[in-house]
Amino acid sequence: MSFPKDFLWGGAVAANQCEGAYLEDGKGLSVPDMLLGGDVNTPRTFLPKTDETAFYPSHEAIDFYHHYAEDIKLFAEMGFNTFRLSINWGRIFPNGDDEEPNEEGLAFYDRVFDECEKYGIQPLVTLCHYEIPWAIVTKYGGFSNRKVIDLFVKYAVTCFKRYKHKVKYWLTFNEINIACMDEGGIGNLYGLGIMEDEDINADHRIPLTELKSNPQRTFEALHNEFVASALAVKAGHEINPDFVIGNMIAHVTVYPLTPNPKDVLAAFDEDNLKNNFCGDIQVRGEYPKYIFRYFKENGIDPSFITEEDKKILKEGTVDMYTFSYYQSGCVTTGEDAEMTQGNLLKSAKNPYLKASDWGWQIDPDGLRYTIDKLRDRYPHTPLMVVENGFGAFDTVEEDGSIHDPYRIDYFRPHIKAMGEAIDDGAPLIGYTTWGPIDLVSAGTGQYAKRYGFIYVDRHDDGTGDFSRKKKDSFDWYKKVIASNGEDI
Ligand code: BG6
Repeated sequence: MSFPKDFLWGGAVAANQCEGAYLEDGKGLSVPDMLLGGDVNTPRTFLPKTDETAFYPSHEAIDFYHHYAEDIKLFAEMGFNTFRLSINWGRIFPNGDDEEPNEEGLAFYDRVFDECEKYGIQPLVTLCHYEIPWAIVTKYGGFSNRKVIDLFVKYAVTCFKRYKHKVKYWLTFNEINIACMDEGGIGNLYGLGIMEDEDINADHRIPLTELKSNPQRTFEALHNEFVASALAVKAGHEINPDFVIGNMIAHVTVYPLTPNPKDVLAAFDEDNLKNNFCGDIQVRGEYPKYIFRYFKENGIDPSFITEEDKKILKEGTVDMYTFSYYQSGCVTTGEDAEMTQGNLLKSAKNPYLKASDWGWQIDPDGLRYTIDKLRDRYPHTPLMVVENGFGAFDTVEEDGSIHDPYRIDYFRPHIKAMGEAIDDGAPLIGYTTWGPIDLVSAGTGQYAKRYGFIYVDRHDDGTGDFSRKKKDSFDWYKKVIASNGEDI
């Protein structure tokens, strides 16, 4: 098992899940600021107007905004040479369409990147990680409005110019394929900033699973996002030809539940729609043929794909393909299969796999399989796993220690699987674990679903003093990085 010498090792966070300071220094509201928490059985709810008495987890999150120096120091101690984070769009353009960017927001990320530089940590920056400014949702209808393409490109160019000497690695949209995940309203709101007026103006809490959606609008908006991403890639390369700009796909690997050819075909189609479609466009620069059958069978009129846009997609292909990988699922045409929960997808339960307390099926072999499939699909494109991790309940012992062998048990075989994929010839250039420090869960809004090597004293009832503590896994990951993946 041989990781390349310059392999990027680190961790990944998103601004809205860690920063807090949700209105500080001129920041505007963004989508997650409107969401309350849930749990494994209760979906998060959208509450149209921020309510003084309700608990919005992103408003304070883990207060990375004021703790970033301490946190980056701990990441450096673990040996990170990369740190994936997102810029909160609403810190830079509080209303999404402001004439001038907000200097205080820009200055915050200067401080963060300078801190990374101090320790030789390369930032890997996502421009949009489920945090579209709220005003873009209400005033423009999110990405269903083509004007938002220009707003995003202006924001991207502002960041590229400002940080061109501090950041080399960029990602445009986090998990751009969430819109195809069959989760209706959640995909629309998180990924595309779309909500129907009726939901925006409701006077009660709405479970995210019940938000309304319209497939024609979804795929048109997703198209606009592809165009925005491609224009940003092109502009980025003009600003600094050394930039490495990637896409980011939620890869939910699927298997047929049985050898029944009907199940095999159903899994094949699902893989294309949910995992391959967006990546094919962003890596190859054109719509894959198979999607037109899906459009036809689902009454989606593809006339929004204009000749001019096709040219833009061709000119704005990405330099690397990055993805999140947590689990796999099974697909079946049978009706009586037992189902299980996933982060973005419900799927049939795989009898060979165990699952986390949130029902996410644990499948390290699936990671090797996924990386190798991507190697064959995009032979000339470097790959990076930019999210992988285990959400679990942790217990702080009386002496303050936190023993999390279950987390190490999750990571160990996944890291081995990456090594095997490298031995298989995959051009894997880096790995950032999800949530190296505990943060707010995107799916449930919980603090209790902890991913970190670093524990944060913050809880779902709003208590906690935000202090940080190392868990056992901290020293373990440090050892893995120090040995470049040999000592696991
Ligand atoms: C990914 C997202 O889908 O999964 C992250 O990019 C998210 O934002 C992560 O936090 C883990 O999901 P969850 O729901 O456990 O936070």
